Amino acid sequence: MTKKPKFQEPAGMHDILPGEQRYFQKVLDTCENIADFYGFQRIETPILEQTELFSKGTGLSTDIVQKQMYNLRTKGGDYLTLRPEFTPGITRAFVEHGMKNLPQPVKFYSFGPLFRYEHSQAGRYRQFHQFNLEVIGEGGPIIDVQIIQIFYNILQELKLKNLIIEINSIGDNQCRPYYKKLLVSYFRSRESALCVDCRRRLKENPLRVLDCKEEKCQRIVSQAPQLIDHLCQECHHHFKGVLELLDEIELPYRLNPYLVRGLDYYTKTVFEIFSQEQKKSEDEKEITVRNALCGGGRYDALVKLLGGEDAKASGGALGIERIIELMREREIKFPRAAGPQVFLAQLGTMAKRKSLKLLEDFRKARILTGESFGKDSLKAQLRTADKMEVKYTLLIGQREALEGTVLIRDMKTGKQETIKLDKAVKEMKKRLKK
Ligand code: HAM
Repeated sequence: MTKKPKFQEPAGMHDILPGEQRYFQKVLDTCENIADFYGFQRIETPILEQTELFSKGTGLSTDIVQKQMYNLRTKGGDYLTLRPEFTPGITRAFVEHGMKNLPQPVKFYSFGPLFRYEHSQAGRYRQFHQFNLEVIGEGGPIIDVQIIQIFYNILQELKLKNLIIEINSIGDNQCRPYYKKLLVSYFRSRESALCVDCRRRLKENPLRVLDCKEEKCQRIVSQAPQLIDHLCQECHHHFKGVLELLDEIELPYRLNPYLVRGLDYYTKTVFEIFSQEQKKSEDEKEITVRNALCGGGRYDALVKLLGGEDAKASGGALGIERIIELMREREIKFPRAAGPQVFLAQLGTMAKRKSLKLLEDFRKARILTGESFGKDSLKAQLRTADKMEVKYTLLIGQREALEGTVLIRDMKTGKQETIKLDKAVKEMKKRLKK
């Protein structure tokens, strides 16, 4: 067995090696193209924010704030946290930069790393990436639907199949308090059968018991009262609007009355998008494997909570690593980025110098050009040119360097021709156009 190197990736964090970058780039390009079409603009916020922003914004009762934040104290004595999600930072930026004065709504997209101290398991990392959308300054159901539609379009464009949209309404501060009371009294009478975490949740945030993954809790939850039956008129109307619009654009969805999401700021609509697959377990049983690729919802009270004027908002985020894992698992192919069409080979010191200059001319002319200036043997250079599958190799040997010429070799036909060095870029442009 080879010895493990002394330094390794921190647990739950991963290098993104050059071979994986094209997946990241493909996903980001797809997300950006679609978000662009719908009028979203990119926003970047710092990776570190004040700890209080998350304890207030994400919410004190959430697992994220209770167990998963990377907190630090700076030399100046500030308490900062590595962002575990985008939403509070973007809302802070909206308030801080007075974006309420811009034409509303303001639509933002973001892409970048997030940090959560999670238990190590497949698909759960301590550093991961999201593509995130936020629309601030509009309260209608159409925005909720548009956000779901955009995420669904992105996943479809990436050729991911078996997608399931789950949706629910978790009401607002008009109707939720009464429902919470109903729920607490239901769970209290069954408290001893709940898991330890749920017994704690029952005190701090009883809604979270509804999405516990423990089987014994799920059995109790399946008989629990549902918030959909207790929504106030406004929330009921809003949710009806969302479902009608989803029907209108023929997006397939599933109502899940127990979907509550693990963040405190949500009001009204919440949703998740899963990929679902049948797999064989270790003991050969058919099992359904669900993977949450995306989650989001409306958060009408957060802007005010973080010190801004009232502004309704809605958003969601895609988990990039989970998407890439699925793309690889399902062997989804996409065209490779275009490689070089021309290769510069050189022989001798003077030729090397001329090639270096010629490479710059090709760059300015935007012709992708390969080289291996570090190699001196012509054979080795031509082997590289073959691997790159270029159309033409340009060779400058000692003679060519002295005469100010270059030898063009058509890699398909093997035909060779010598031309003036200063005509090389123009000639290549002409040939590559054909
Ligand atoms: P979230 O459900 O916590 O929502 O995360 C969204 C997605 O990020 C998840 O569906 C999952 O694909 C991915 N994800 C979350 N945690 C991890 C992890 N530890 N490792 C890998 N992937 C992960 C939010 O973050 C909200 N801020 C979304 C939102 C925006 N709501 C409104 N606006």
